[in-house]
Amino acid sequence: MLDVRDLRMRYGTLDVLTGVSFQAQRGEILTLLGPNGAGKTTIIEILEGFRLRSDGDVLVLGVDPATADEAWRARIGVVLQSWRDHGKWRVGELLEHLGRYYAPYSSEGRKRPLTVNELVEMVDLGPYRNQRIATLSGGQRRRMDVAIGIVGRPELLFLDEPTAGFDPQARRDFHDLVRRLSGLEGTTILLTTHDLDEAEKLAHRIMVLAGGRIVANGSAEELAAQVAGQSEVRWRHNGNRFAETTDDAVSFVRRLLAEDGPTISDLEVRRPSLEETYMAMVQHHEAGRVADAVAVADFGGQGQ
Ligand SMILES: Nc1ncnc2c1ncn2[C@@H]1O[C@H](COP(=O)(O)OP(=O)(O)OP(=O)(O)O)[C@@H](O)[C@H]1O
Ligand SMILES: [Mg+2]
Repeated sequence: MLDVRDLRMRYGTLDVLTGVSFQAQRGEILTLLGPNGAGKTTIIEILEGFRLRSDGDVLVLGVDPATADEAWRARIGVVLQSWRDHGKWRVGELLEHLGRYYAPYSSEGRKRPLTVNELVEMVDLGPYRNQRIATLSGGQRRRMDVAIGIVGRPELLFLDEPTAGFDPQARRDFHDLVRRLSGLEGTTILLTTHDLDEAEKLAHRIMVLAGGRIVANGSAEELAAQVAGQSEVRWRHNGNRFAETTDDAVSFVRRLLAEDGPTISDLEVRRPSLEETYMAMVQHHEAGRVADAVAVADFGGQGQ
């Protein structure tokens, strides 16, 4: 569904992507994590065909987005990080209107578009169907964005920070919707988020973008193992508390119990959380980039 190889993007003199590669299969849910300004929106906009890349090979549904046609576009759904238009339209009207663009691309296996009824039910906007978009709350507006993204029953869906502004219930409903799209419809989903808990709960695979590259690509457990594999073991012995960091918790605990088993209580093994893993990765790779920039500046300064 997605095949990205050595993707590069430069804005003026700023190298934002310096060699990004990844693939995605049908029905996979991928999350793209990375600090502000890492280039997540840039990647998504290139894959959607909204932005022209500087270099690299990109295939989206087997086609280069830079030269793709309307039939290709009809198979893809997009929720941008921010768009503020269509304010005067009513919820139901706009979904009906947008749906018409997809009708010619309907097939036996994949009926297009989804009906307005289906859409407002899926994103829980039923009571607001006749309300003007400009008067929706932030979270309602974001749900409308999601409805717009899936109106054409996409095979591939890009979501750029879709849950920003969602309350906990809306967030949970959205996660159910994403799982439903992936499981029942076989939709491949690439989404960005700053919510690590969301990434961990939702994604089959997490990718971390830092320093212009994908520095990690795997499940939350695989990422944790990649950073250091250090776990913390805590226990109580004769009323005193102890803690020890180890890269082999099982052997450590086995030894501990063999030596002092009967007098040990409150034994606990803590693996690094995704947040700790993520922070360690980003700090490591962003530090590399800053060091490069300083080295270049120093070098430039010597010639003056
Ligand atoms: N059109 C543009 N022209 C010049 N620089 C740009 C342009 N678009 C983005 N950038 C720069 O490219 C970098 C990556 O931006 P991008 O929006 O892709 O980041 P992001 O990972 O989506 O960040 P955020 O988490 O804040 O949404 C930033 O430093 C940004 O300032
Ligand atoms: Mg962004």
